[in-house]
Amino acid sequence: MKLQVNAGRIEDTSAEAILLFHFKDETLGGLSKHVDEKLKGQIGAVLKNREFIGKAGQLYLVSINLEKIGIKRVILAGMGGRNEFTLDKLRGAASKGANYAKNLGLKHLAILHPLEAPVAIEETAAALTEGVMLGTYQYNKYHTEERSEIKTLDSVSIYTDVNKVKNIQKAVEFAETVCNATNLTRDLNNEPGNVGTPTYMAKMAEEAGKKHGFKVKVFGKNEIEGMKMHSFLSVAKGSVQEPKFVVMEYNGGGKDAIVLVGKGITFDSGGISIKPSRDMEKMKWDKSGACSVIGAMSAAAALKLPLHLIGLTPFTENLPSGSASKPGDVVYASNGTSIEIQNTDAEGRLVLADALVYAQKYKPKAVIDLATLTGACVVALGDVAAGLMGNDEKLIEKIRKASEKSGDKCWHLPLWKEYDEKIKSDIADIKNVGTPGGDAGAITAAMFLKRFVNYPWVHLDIAGTAWNDYEKPYLTKGATGFGVRLLIEMLRD
Ligand code: BES
Ligand code: MN
Ligand code: ZN
Repeated sequence: MKLQVNAGRIEDTSAEAILLFHFKDETLGGLSKHVDEKLKGQIGAVLKNREFIGKAGQLYLVSINLEKIGIKRVILAGMGGRNEFTLDKLRGAASKGANYAKNLGLKHLAILHPLEAPVAIEETAAALTEGVMLGTYQYNKYHTEERSEIKTLDSVSIYTDVNKVKNIQKAVEFAETVCNATNLTRDLNNEPGNVGTPTYMAKMAEEAGKKHGFKVKVFGKNEIEGMKMHSFLSVAKGSVQEPKFVVMEYNGGGKDAIVLVGKGITFDSGGISIKPSRDMEKMKWDKSGACSVIGAMSAAAALKLPLHLIGLTPFTENLPSGSASKPGDVVYASNGTSIEIQNTDAEGRLVLADALVYAQKYKPKAVIDLATLTGACVVALGDVAAGLMGNDEKLIEKIRKASEKSGDKCWHLPLWKEYDEKIKSDIADIKNVGTPGGDAGAITAAMFLKRFVNYPWVHLDIAGTAWNDYEKPYLTKGATGFGVRLLIEMLRD
């Protein structure tokens, strides 16, 4: 989809429809009013008879048939009351309007930038771009039938005031890059387990590096053994697929490194502690964290952010077999910590442990890991927010702020030392599960990770937010790309 910002007169657009945003129970103002005058009051009439009032989520199609006016259709998208405005409401309205045009089979949509929204125009421009680009995302790689019926918007022109066009252009371009990276993350993550193997994912990371300008080093099994990552390797043991440890590096300046770590389980069956078959197919998305790291690296490099950024993504499958790890096995992580594997389904923390130790060598000023780590986090926060935990109040607060702005919601959970008791093992330093009942499971998993960090660190448990089981306002079913917008929002300042 091509996006452009236009300072021309929207009534002269060649687009097949124009999309107007409208606050609930308000009259037309600004450019909307100007458009309505050109359309001889046809929009005003719809508002007047209250067929459309601008409720959040409301859509209305006005068909235009006027001589000497090119505009054929106006799509009205409700944004709800002005006093309850949020950027997420605009994202939702933009997505709805764009999808409506797309589903009509239209190719070119003009959008009037909502200049009168009560926040900075750069923010509305970005939110509007996100709604359009994330909301119209579709994953249809594997459909072989009716491909000719797949509908896509080819271009979107955003119209605004002449004196605002520069700022809006900048914001739209920035958001477009972030959305492309988010949709790349979704593509990678939606890849099924038989294709999206560790080897394939490593190759995709290399491709992203080539395209966007960051270095990628891929370590195979022998090298991972050489680095003594036996915690990571204990998960890979049951699979015939070779594990891969991917190191990405982008240096756009910046003294101290920031490291992003992503859990990359390309399929999580649970291993010998096998999962029930119901919903197991969703465990192809257990590589969400790693995919978000590849996306964030891509965006940061494409945007040339002045940072030294490292991405670490350990990839492996977690499968049962004669060579798989067994409950009760003890292994040593690369820092020498001994771990009793009480449950082979708590594999995420085992692969992250070695990646977090690896991060130490950069003496980073911040490390952020993203992982679909625990079902307990889904119980606590559902599909609305990610669990946010860490050892550094300043970093936690930074992420929390970025979360509010970006729409990737996070909620802080404590890592008090009392929780540390729960991962003590009888025969090793620690065990990979907390209490048998799974109490505070998201926290005890993070307490496990905490054993492997010696730097400012934040852990995001994205088990509930990394994919959608049903349509959301601007994030369709499947992988959401959670974390890319959040990380870039945090890294940009
Ligand atoms: N990948 C799962 C966590 C998960 C579950 C993510 C549901 C998304 C949806 C993880 O590897 C896992 O299996 N965790 C276990 C840990 C337990 C054995 C301590 C869990 O949450 O049940
Ligand atoms: Mn598991
Ligand atoms: Zn898992």
